[in-house]
Amino acid sequence: MSKLAIEGGRPIREDPIPIAQPILGDEEARAVTEVLRSGQLAQGPRVEEFEREFAQFVGCEHCVATSSGTTALQLALESAGLGPGDLAIVPSFTFIATANAALHVGADVAFVDIDLETYCMDPRSLEEVVKLLKDRVLRPRTVAVIPVHLYGHPADMDPILEIAEEHDLIVIEDAAQAHGAEYKGRRIGSLGDAACFSFYPTKNMTTGEGGAITTDDGELAERARMLRSHGERERYDHVELGYNFRMTDIAAAIGIVQLRRLEEFNERRRENARYYLKELADLEPLIELPTEKPWAKHVYHQFTIRINVEELSCTRDEFAEALRAEGVDCAVHYPTPLHRQPVYLRRGYHATELPKSERAAETVLSIPVHPGLSEEDRQDVVEAVEKVVSAFSR
Ligand SMILES: Cc1ncc(COP(=O)(O)O)c(C=O)c1O
Repeated sequence: MSKLAIEGGRPIREDPIPIAQPILGDEEARAVTEVLRSGQLAQGPRVEEFEREFAQFVGCEHCVATSSGTTALQLALESAGLGPGDLAIVPSFTFIATANAALHVGADVAFVDIDLETYCMDPRSLEEVVKLLKDRVLRPRTVAVIPVHLYGHPADMDPILEIAEEHDLIVIEDAAQAHGAEYKGRRIGSLGDAACFSFYPTKNMTTGEGGAITTDDGELAERARMLRSHGERERYDHVELGYNFRMTDIAAAIGIVQLRRLEEFNERRRENARYYLKELADLEPLIELPTEKPWAKHVYHQFTIRINVEELSCTRDEFAEALRAEGVDCAVHYPTPLHRQPVYLRRGYHATELPKSERAAETVLSIPVHPGLSEEDRQDVVEAVEKVVSAFSR
């Protein structure tokens, strides 16, 4: 237990409130049991059903289910034509899978900065990088831009799509954290050439492990389906070098039930967020609260605050430790921007400077916002944050 909890008396909670908690019940259990009894465990009718329902939910023509969000990204990039020597433009402040997917298809990565209000790709930074690279570098290559709808808030897609159109860039959305989020009234997942989702257990809905590509582009979807299963056109007729990136019917059966519950889960996340925004408002500017742009529907995959380290007498990590000592789990998404990760430094990004990504990595802290929180949990989170802020106030 940290010094703070000891000095401050008893911690707010003895049993910690988790940062994430998948909600799975009897319906999911029944759906899985049915699949087990059927004997059809690998990709089969449940995957097809899940794909139909997810495409309909997103509002686009095709959905290709995959083994994870990471494989969805890799498959989408490759199916869109990205390969060795090509280029992907990626925000530096994201989970590493966004950029790694580009490396896996043999492309290079150029990092751009984020907007500190949304934590998503800053279209101005994208424009700068595109201008810097100039047509001389861009033209001979296929170039993809990968906006990430981080924490459940959509990236500002209109200016990104405009830049993409002007410079002939493919747009693959990383929607791993944004199931059900909306941009100007349209569901995320149907705005770019394709979008990729993750169904990892901490996400707004889960299939255990799993992912999906959504797209209106029939050719892209067809290619992704083929590459997903060893480049197989017909049984044992392999026309391309593919993978096994398939989703199982067990996972899809869970996904079908979770998808039906998604809107309710998201509404509970939004309600928890509204509560925090109201109850924690007085603590600004010592901490900074997340924003929802007027054109956005935020689905709060994370509720991420920023610790104003200039105003408080602690680092973000000391703040996090003190909060945990009060019985509130919290997490740093993400402590290192990708251009500072050893795997990318080794590829020569030493000179890259992206001040907003760096600032975010130093100061962000996510607190529990998942739909499993009770009213008492939420009150305890607020009380614990207030206690920690007050302990570190100068
Ligand atoms: C922004 C982002 N992109 C991609 C992924 C990769 O998804 P998965 O873990 O399902 O491979 C994640 C998952 O954490 C993510 O948060």
